[in-house]
Amino acid sequence: MVDFDADFHPPCRNAGNATNPGIRYYSPAHKGAARVSRASSFKVPFFLHDLGQEEIDSVSAALRHPVLTTGETVARFEASLAEYLGCRHVLATTSCTGALHLSLLALGIGSGDEVITTPMTFIATSTAIIEAGARPVFVDVEPATGNLDPARVAGAITPRTRAILPVHLYGRMCDMPALADVARQHGLAIIEDAAHCLEGRLGDIRPAGLGNTACFSFYATKNITCGEGGALAFNDSDLLAPLKLLRLHGMTRTGAERAQLGYQHWDMASMGWKYNMSNIEAAILLPQMNRLEHNLARRLELVARYRAGLSDLTGVRMMVHPAEGTRHACHLFPILIDGMPRDDFIAALHDEGISVMVNYRPVHLTHYFANTYSYQRGDFPIAEAIGDRVVSLPLYPRMADADVDLVLAAIRKCLGE
Ligand SMILES: Cc1ncc(COP(=O)(O)O)c(C=O)c1O
Repeated sequence: MVDFDADFHPPCRNAGNATNPGIRYYSPAHKGAARVSRASSFKVPFFLHDLGQEEIDSVSAALRHPVLTTGETVARFEASLAEYLGCRHVLATTSCTGALHLSLLALGIGSGDEVITTPMTFIATSTAIIEAGARPVFVDVEPATGNLDPARVAGAITPRTRAILPVHLYGRMCDMPALADVARQHGLAIIEDAAHCLEGRLGDIRPAGLGNTACFSFYATKNITCGEGGALAFNDSDLLAPLKLLRLHGMTRTGAERAQLGYQHWDMASMGWKYNMSNIEAAILLPQMNRLEHNLARRLELVARYRAGLSDLTGVRMMVHPAEGTRHACHLFPILIDGMPRDDFIAALHDEGISVMVNYRPVHLTHYFANTYSYQRGDFPIAEAIGDRVVSLPLYPRMADADVDLVLAAIRKCLGE
């Protein structure tokens, strides 16, 4: 299906350096491990996107339109995502970080406020809170899922607490009914970081189902991607107008309106930021909406193969489990390493040609957070135990079954099992 231009090659690790300038590439027509250059690159890369001719055609059409900024293509993407999620409104943004920031601002959260969140996430969840002027307050996570533990949230609430910001980690929805109960009892907002969880469900509950807003990422390795992009979904129509202003400098007219209607004076009605998505990014995303369910089904197959292949290993514990009533979005496939030090395991896997990542080392132990908020090791032991042992294995629809088998064989070899 994919027919890349001849000069398009995803770069690989070992792509050359000052003494060895030879840049090496994966096969542009990668269809599994057999087509990947084994001598010069990872046998199994951590991620390959599946963008192809449909996206190229869609972008070509967008480029032929005079309006490149936020316009009709963005509106179509927003409508498509809202329909998929079953929610009233979607606004497309330049990133999930921006969507989180806008959500906090629209809900009136700012200076002097506290927002309860998880340390087991990408830093952007917490930095968005700081961008809004508020203070992130971490609460430890559930050992089985890595998700914010609702039972611990109440203990962290102070008179300054205004919101809870859970992350549906790896694609597994948090216990939203429990979080919504706490929020209701204490008059708090909920902003969902659903960067991993476009397709996830907990029973009938989907992202934005119980939260005030849910925020998505279309970063380069996400389940749908435009390189960099995001969106926020919400049901409260009263948030629509303020969020649109906040997304574009507080301006009362957009660039597309000026192009279509001719110049009309505009005002700056409120403080605003610059987080609007362009038609070009939306054009990359739109065709991927049609593959969402198909790609999830493929990731589920890959996860089942991983699970079967890892089940007898004593040095590995899995974190993605099929759970009744839950649809896991399977954005990542993390495992916990018991059989050897995690970092040695990563190095050994890299030597075997398998690219892996760590999602995540906990936010509170980063230099900035530890220094700024006086956090230290021991503060959130469950997040730390996950952060010390977790490794994410490659998982994406273009992986062949044979790729999973290569990863499994390499894991066995590294662990000596
Ligand atoms: C859990 C989580 N939250 C937020 C973000 C930030 O997304 P973006 O890069 O679109 O701002 C990411 C991105 O990797 C993420 O994984």
